[in-house]
Amino acid sequence: MLAPVRNRTALADLEREIALPGTGLDRLRLMETPFVPEVRLHLAEDAIVWWARMEAAAGGRLPPPYWASAWAGGQALARYLLDHPELVAGRRVLDLAAGSGLVAIAAALAGADQVVANDIDPYAVAAVTVNARVNGVRVAATADDLLDSTVTADLLVAGDILYDAALARRVLPFLRRAADQGAVVLVGDPDRGHVPPGRLEVVASYPVPTTEPFVDSPVRRVQVLRPS
Ligand SMILES: C[S@@+](CC[C@H](N)C(=O)[O-])C[C@H]1O[C@@H](n2cnc3c(N)ncnc32)[C@H](O)[C@@H]1O
Repeated sequence: MLAPVRNRTALADLEREIALPGTGLDRLRLMETPFVPEVRLHLAEDAIVWWARMEAAAGGRLPPPYWASAWAGGQALARYLLDHPELVAGRRVLDLAAGSGLVAIAAALAGADQVVANDIDPYAVAAVTVNARVNGVRVAATADDLLDSTVTADLLVAGDILYDAALARRVLPFLRRAADQGAVVLVGDPDRGHVPPGRLEVVASYPVPTTEPFVDSPVRRVQVLRPS
C-alpha cells in the first residue's frame, strides 16, 4: 500500500533534497538533459537507490520516481517541440504524464502561451515546479487524473505514457477524443509495444541517449507519433 503523500509534502521533500543533495548515488543532481541540452533537470543519480532511501524515510511505499529520470519518449518529444516552435508558439499546451516536466518546459521555451503539466504522482508535480523554476519558465502543475475528462488545450503532448498495457487502453481513447476536438496531439514512444496497429502514425524518429533505469543500451530509437 502506498504511503499517502500530499503535494506540499512532496515539494518540501524535493526542495530539501535539492538544498542538501549529499554525494552518493541516492541524491538528486541538476543536469543537462542528454538529447535536450536546452533543459536542465533535477534528476536522480540512481533513481532506484534514491527511491529506497525516500521509502525508508517515509516508513512505507512511495510511487516509483519516474519523474527522477528523463525518459526516452519525453526527450524525443521535447526535442521535436524545440525544433518546431511554430507548432507551439502562442498555443495552450497540456503535458500529460509530465514526470520531471521536461516536455512542458520545452513547450514553454518554444513559446507556448500557457503550459499545464499533469501527472498523478505528487512528487512529479513537485518536480515540475522545481524544474520549471530552475529553467526560468512558467508551468502550472496538476495532479488530477484527467483521462476521463475533456481536453481544452490546443496542443496535447505526452512523453512515454504508453509504457503499460492497462494505461495505454485508457490513454489512446483520450488522445483520440482530444484530436477529434481539434487539438494537435503528439506522443513520444520508444515502441513499448502497447499501440495497436493503425492507431498512431509516425511524425519523426530519433536515436535518443537515455538515463532510464532497467535499460541495457545507452541509445533508444524513439518515434514521435500522432493519432492517424
Ligand atoms: C515513464 S514516465 C514519463 C515521464 C515524462 N513524460 C518523460 O518522458 O520523461 C510516465 C509518467 O506517467 C505518469 N502517469 C501514470 N498514469 C497517469 C495518469 N493517469 N495521468 C497522468 N500521468 C500518469 C506517471 O506518474 C509517470 O510520471
